[in-house]
Amino acid sequence: MKIIKSIPLMQSISNKAHKPVGLVPTMGSIHEGHIKLINASKKQNTTTIVTLFVNPAQFAENEDFHTYPRNFQKDKKLLSDLGVDILFAPETSQMYPSGFQTSVINDRLSSVLEGEKRPGHFRGVSTIVSKLLNITKPNNAYFGQKDFQQLLIINKLNNDLNHGVKIVSIPTVREKDGLALSSRNIHLNQSERKTANKIYASLKHAESLYLNGEVNSDSIIYAIQTYLLKESLIKIEYISIRDKFTFEDVSTVMPGSIILIAVSIGKTRLIDNLII
Ligand code: PAJ
Repeated sequence: MKIIKSIPLMQSISNKAHKPVGLVPTMGSIHEGHIKLINASKKQNTTTIVTLFVNPAQFAENEDFHTYPRNFQKDKKLLSDLGVDILFAPETSQMYPSGFQTSVINDRLSSVLEGEKRPGHFRGVSTIVSKLLNITKPNNAYFGQKDFQQLLIINKLNNDLNHGVKIVSIPTVREKDGLALSSRNIHLNQSERKTANKIYASLKHAESLYLNGEVNSDSIIYAIQTYLLKESLIKIEYISIRDKFTFEDVSTVMPGSIILIAVSIGKTRLIDNLII
């Protein structure tokens, strides 16, 4: 596995890489969720590039940039063992040199849910993903459905800015008890971890209500709220049911609707979703 830190070098290697090229952008602390993306890329491409960059621009002042888990040596070994061809891990000063001033913004999709709770977050995500697509010039790029709003925004920026990449979305990988894998899960203490599986359980509860004939969004949202309010460690940030393509709120749940949840448990913020 080649480890590249310089942008010009990465660009010249990308230009010569054996196609098709698959890109898997990550912020490291590699877990089974990331690994599923990497394995999909390895299967569908001749060259797989993984990027590892904890992007300061997508964290607000009050967020966890400084405590975000980082484990470069362990990640490097894991990625090499997985058969990744190239690891691109630039320094912040390379990605955002002094004088950097251009951003990619999607005003519409960034104004709700994660965008509303985390101002500036999607501007940071869109800008870095756009840069990574330009630097690595992949044919295919892999993103997880766990971060569904991010996936939608990346699909949109790829179309709107003519990156011409095929965006491949990969279903959420979960622990045995249903908790969606996330680099942030290691911050949960034992009792917080025990209660964290209720997030997915509440989504499955909503799904069973739907399968038993309940289609009213407000009733389903209320049922999820009631379910989660029993868990004193869980603080709900939002519960929303939207159309998975337009991301508009829906009043009637139907196939193609998506239920999205954000909660905090202690100091840890977690998101999850379920597509009907
Ligand atoms: P990160 O949180 O490291 O996630 C990297 C990729 O892995 C994202 O596409 C994310 O959706 C996917 N992923 C995370 N947990 C997953 C799970 N349990 N199952 C399936 N896929 C999962 O998302 C980011 O980094 C950043 O915002 C990034 C896109 C790299 C831009 O900085």
